[in-house]
Formats: sequence, structure tokens, C-alpha cells
Amino acid sequence: MPTVLITGASRGIGREFATQYAADGWDVIATARSQGDIADLGGIEGVRAHRLDVLDANEVDRFMGELGDQVVDVFINNAGIYGPREPERDGWLELMEVNVIAPTLLAQRLRPNVAKSEQKKMVVLTSKMGSIADNSSGGSIPYRSSKAAVNAAWKSLAHDFRSDGIAVAMLHPGWVETDMGGPNALIDTKTSVSGLRQRIEETTLDNTGRFVAYDGANIPW
Ligand SMILES: NC(=O)c1ccc[n+]([C@@H]2O[C@H](COP(=O)([O-])OP(=O)(O)OC[C@H]3O[C@@H](n4cnc5c(N)ncnc54)[C@H](OP(=O)(O)O)[C@@H]3O)[C@@H](O)[C@H]2O)c1
Repeated sequence: MPTVLITGASRGIGREFATQYAADGWDVIATARSQGDIADLGGIEGVRAHRLDVLDANEVDRFMGELGDQVVDVFINNAGIYGPREPERDGWLELMEVNVIAPTLLAQRLRPNVAKSEQKKMVVLTSKMGSIADNSSGGSIPYRSSKAAVNAAWKSLAHDFRSDGIAVAMLHPGWVETDMGGPNALIDTKTSVSGLRQRIEETTLDNTGRFVAYDGANIPW
């Protein structure tokens, strides 16, 4: 069975990805930050849980060491934060690190692991809120700018990784009931992740670099 690597799998969308892929018999490598979440994730049959806080460079190095030359068919960079609602220096910098810099550096480090797999795919959980064309209401400057930036970075990865046969997609999960999405969200994690898995399934070098929603709608940049 193929191997999928999911970051931020302790709860929300990441946890649902781990649950669904494991239920379908995939080999799932899932990361979390707390000991309790690691133990809990590792309790799901088919899931290998690892510690990873993407803000900690030493932990990233240790995780990459644990992974070694493990083949990864699909890398799902799901870990993300909302950050401060209003622009504020420290919170905004941390947000950029978690939502933009860490996912992009991780993708570059995972390139050899994914390149030698059969499926060769990398996706990042971004947001429609990162669409500049779709921004009709303003506000949420830190979060919007982080998702616009990760889209720009991963669009370049799509070009850069083509020579290795790796296809890349930027995925909007919808407005999802999670700690981040809140109780008024429009869809549950099952609906979102079922759709996202279809988008991942159809990701190829022919459509690499696209910005697409869980339901297949293309999103303007
Ligand atoms: N929910 C929505 O409506 C929505 C809409 C658009 C896009 N998204 C995107 O979808 C992704 C998942 O969102 P969600 O709603 O499932 O969020 P969530 O419920 O808040 O879960 C976020 C996950 O990211 C992890 N995380 C946070 N900081 C981390 C760090 N420094 N290192 C490693 N992991 C870290 C969290 O781990 P801990 O449990 O340890 O904190 C948790 O597993 C995010 O990238 C988000 O921006 C969500």
C-alpha cells in the first residue's frame, strides 16, 4: 500500500486524513506535538506517529533522521495556525514560520523521499482566504498573507519538482468545523477530507501547481 505523511494530525483535518487513509489500508505516518496526541494517534491501526513541532529546527532534523530514506508517496502539509487577527509583529512572524517557511523547507527536504515513490505527490492545506482575487471583505491580514505566500512558494515548488516527476497541489478544505474553523463552519471534517482525498487522487503532472477546493472548484489566485 502507498505511504502518506501528514503533519498536524493531532486533531481537525489532519486527524481525519490519518483516520481515513488508515481505514483504507494505507501506511500512514502522522505527526503531532504532545506526548498524549502521539500516543493517541499511534493507537489507530496503520498509523505510525512521530513527534514534530515545525517551529523547532532540532525537532525537524530529528524527525528527518527518523524518517531516513522512507519512501513517501503523498506528503500532506496540513499543520497550520490562524495567528493574530490584527497585524502584530511577533504573532505574524510565527504565523509565517508555521504556515509558509516550515512547509516549504519540509517539502524541499522530503523531495528525495517522494521522488522515489510511485505516486509522487505533495499538497499543502492553504485557504481561499489566501486568494487575492477573492478578497472582497478585507481583514485577517496575517492569515491571508501567510496563505497567499505559501501559494506563491508552492507554485514554484510545482515547477521545481517537475523534473523529479513530483506533482503539487494547493488545497482549500472548505470552511470546516474544527478548532480553527469554529462551530459555524459549513462542513464537517469527513466531508472535507473525502473531497480533498479525491483532489489528491486526481493530482498529476498535467494539473500540477493548481489551487483547488475540496469540492473540485478551481480558486482564482
Ligand atoms: N478549518 C477551516 O475552516 C480551514 C479553512 C481553510 C484552511 N484550513 C487549513 O487547514 C489546515 C488544518 O486546519 P484545521 O482546521 O484542522 O486546524 P486545527 O484544528 O487548528 O489543527 C491544526 C493542527 O496543526 C497543528 N500545528 C499547529 N502548530 C504546529 C506546529 N508548530 N508544528 C506542528 N503542528 C502544528 C496542530 O497541532 P496541536 O494540536 O499540537 O496544536 C493541529 O494538529 C491548516 O493549515 C488551516 O490553515 C482550515
